[in-house]
Amino acid sequence: MPVTATTPAKPGESVATLERGLAVVRALAAAPATRMRRSDLARATGLARATVDRVARTLTHLGYLRAEEHDAVLTPLLMELGNAYLAADPLADAADVPARSLADELDESVSVCVPDGDGARFVIQCPRRRAMAVTFHVGDLLPAERCAPGALFAADWDEDTWRHWRERVAPAPPSAPAGDARGDSSGAAGRQGPGSDAAAVPDLAARTERAERSGSAVDDQLVEPGLVAVAVPVRGDDGRVRCAVSVVSHTSRHTADSLADLALPRLRACADTVAEALAEHVPAEPPSPSGRADALRTAKEELGADFLQSLARGLEVLTCLRVTGGRTLTEVAQATGLARATARRSLSALTQLGYVTTVDDRRFTLLPRVLELGYAPLSRLTFERIATPHLADLVRRVHDSASVSVLDGDDIRYVARVATTRVMGVDLGVGTRLPAHPTSMGRVLLAGRPPEELAARLTRAVPERLTEHTRTSPEELAAVVDEARRSGYALVDQELEEGLCSIAVPVRDRDGRVVAAVNVAAHAAQRGSDSLREEVLPELREAARRIEADLAAASERNPGALPS
Ligand code: PHB
Repeated sequence: MPVTATTPAKPGESVATLERGLAVVRALAAAPATRMRRSDLARATGLARATVDRVARTLTHLGYLRAEEHDAVLTPLLMELGNAYLAADPLADAADVPARSLADELDESVSVCVPDGDGARFVIQCPRRRAMAVTFHVGDLLPAERCAPGALFAADWDEDTWRHWRERVAPAPPSAPAGDARGDSSGAAGRQGPGSDAAAVPDLAARTERAERSGSAVDDQLVEPGLVAVAVPVRGDDGRVRCAVSVVSHTSRHTADSLADLALPRLRACADTVAEALAEHVPAEPPSPSGRADALRTAKEELGADFLQSLARGLEVLTCLRVTGGRTLTEVAQATGLARATARRSLSALTQLGYVTTVDDRRFTLLPRVLELGYAPLSRLTFERIATPHLADLVRRVHDSASVSVLDGDDIRYVARVATTRVMGVDLGVGTRLPAHPTSMGRVLLAGRPPEELAARLTRAVPERLTEHTRTSPEELAAVVDEARRSGYALVDQELEEGLCSIAVPVRDRDGRVVAAVNVAAHAAQRGSDSLREEVLPELREAARRIEADLAAASERNPGALPS
């Protein structure tokens, strides 16, 4: 029976539903490749299989999950939750340039962590590419006792946090499962299992006292053999530690002492710069209302009881808090289009679960814990891994091969590809280069270049005539590229190879720049231009839209996710 949008959820139920949904997300975030069979998800979360299925259907509808055979896989779009936290807290922006400059100056990795419960959560990571590379990412959580920032943060802990910490590090009974006390094992150090070697847990209280006296803390291979780090605090107006800036090195280059001697003066200067930038921070305009309430309503009508409204609303409320200084209940209701009572229930559930807090008793803001919802593992995805599932989807729909490529000199270079299941597939692998001018992807990529650059490209090289159909005159090519820009797609009929037709559309980054092209190629005998235009183009456009949405979330703070 369809449940209407006005059906009120019981208050307790809404927290429980949201908690179950987020438990599924956390379990996937901790799994290799953020992927798990649904039956294993039920086991890992302790939820009924039917509940896991409903959560999965709801998250899939929201674009946060992909179903692949029996597996559920997190999508990069989910990073919009962590991006909301990082955009709302002025710290990530204030510390970005100073941290990067310090890493350049010292030629060592620099990171910024914020306190999160009894741990330190990374919000900035500026790694140096070295053989002994640091493995932590933005969003990872280090237990306080195993890192330099932890000793700085613990100085501000209340009795509750100390108690929580003591329980976590207490020797575990032999059969107890690993994972930190909050169930978060997404941090690399979480994998070690707290309590598994309690004797090795150094005396955090003593380290905290030392750190308070000296104004800095060191990590002498606490988190990983060979890794040494030194950290200093940045304090907020209230005198509490707002974040820690760390310099990280390896015992092959430094001892903890020599790193401290080298880095401390410059670390302190960096911390001062961050504190100044924070004080001068001017909040950006809040984003406009999402208007997704309507979409949530139709989802409920379409999926019926399978659509978990409390979960969808909770995530919608979470993303609407992407505002420095937070939002009041009234503002949240306005921004999401939810009724006040519904918005209040969502906010209260998110607060209970530790993702949201209030400032000045009436403004709701996001907490760093939001980053545990898949941010770190998803930020490891390359562009190829972001694009490939969408290509696979496209190929399933159109039964012809699909590819993504970038412009590389006068060529295009394939960066992702999924071949058709047809026996006579067009066979080109990732890394293949083809001249840009007689290919559909080349033409939409050229159409994305500035006019002067395009003119120079078209007159520079004499295009090779590859078939009797190949256009080679600069005027003709300028005209077809122009047409591709106007229509938003390019169709090439046997100009690269006799018997081969292809159609392409651009893939744009967050700023609307063309960064890649996606195409479908077919044998002219099986699929001509009309079929490509009428049957394939709409599917191709949808695939590009989905790649763009994932890419926008993945690349917001990580240019490494963009194709290169
Ligand atoms: C890091 O940035 O990877 C890092 C920072 C502080 C530590 C350990 C690792 O104590």
